[in-house]
Amino acid sequence: MKVNGTPQRTIWTEGDAVCVLDQTQLPHAVAIRRLETLEHAAMAIADMWIRGAPLVGVTAAYGVALAMRRDASDAGLAHALAVLGRTRPTAVNLQAKLDEMRSGLTSVAPGERAFRAAALAAEMADEDVRVNTALGTFGLPILEAIAQKKGRVEVLTHCNAGWLATVDRGTATAPIYAAQAAGIPLHVWVDETRPRNQGASLTAWELGEQGIEHTVLVDNAGGHVMQAGRVDVVLVGTDRTTRDGDVCNKIGTYLKALAARDNGIPFYVALPSSSIDWAIEARAIPIEERDGREVTHVSGLTDDGRTETVRVTPRASRVHNPGFDVTPARLVTGLITERGIAEASRDGLSRLFPEHAS
Ligand code: MRU
Repeated sequence: MKVNGTPQRTIWTEGDAVCVLDQTQLPHAVAIRRLETLEHAAMAIADMWIRGAPLVGVTAAYGVALAMRRDASDAGLAHALAVLGRTRPTAVNLQAKLDEMRSGLTSVAPGERAFRAAALAAEMADEDVRVNTALGTFGLPILEAIAQKKGRVEVLTHCNAGWLATVDRGTATAPIYAAQAAGIPLHVWVDETRPRNQGASLTAWELGEQGIEHTVLVDNAGGHVMQAGRVDVVLVGTDRTTRDGDVCNKIGTYLKALAARDNGIPFYVALPSSSIDWAIEARAIPIEERDGREVTHVSGLTDDGRTETVRVTPRASRVHNPGFDVTPARLVTGLITERGIAEASRDGLSRLFPEHAS
């Protein structure tokens, strides 16, 4: 997608380094971080310079490639996989991509591993773009059908499941960008997504860069705009989807699904199949518990251009900061995948992915 009108991916290589956009600085500055070591890649994921399930997976793969330049022994490979595997717990893409790196490198001679690892990571990045483009293709008819009836489409989205959460195009945003390319008039309601404000700072920024009309609203306003008939469809992403179609996504997604159901609004989830965990039950999904400081403090840009962080809670109050919640399959209208739209159920997913049916 575009930054200042120039097409750009979220992750790319430059010489021996892997470059990423530092998302902690958006929307106020477009800063690039060079990752040169395993430790840099692990820090980029854990400290959320990059985030979003698909991009976490691809960055981890590049992290293995960086590690292989320093130590391509079996012990070096095991160490890299362990360090990267500990960075964030909820997105299954992280483990899936590390597993692919393990199986792609184990039988390769150590002397060849650095080259092979870089090639595998680059293939994963390209694959992510292909998959997201397919999500756009399969999601577009949903928006076209609404536009045919109403003349325009009002979408609500939560968190950032956009270009910035992937290598390019995004998951939930892929149908939106496809609709824009098809000339469909649309407007996106962007949930701010406390506590880290991925909606307010990232989704709003990327939609703005692509010229998509949007409005940021506080998380608590979603139900109200739905009741007022101002939302036609909810589109979100997912960090881990069970084989039964339950969807684990950014905290607050569940409440939006409840409000959508109460108001008869379709609630779609767009995902690469690498976000499906075929082995886990919803209640066993590890939910990331993040630093309470994300709740007790807020940061922003002052009018004179300084970044300031201020406290919003009493010092003595305890806080609870779960990063994700699970939306049960019964609240999900459909799962938009790279093979088409699946009903959110074991049967629906098995029909599209028969190789996982058993
Ligand atoms: O904590 P984050 O910002 O990594 O959470 C990201 C999300 O919850 C996204 O909605 C999800 O990864 C889907 S991304 C295409």
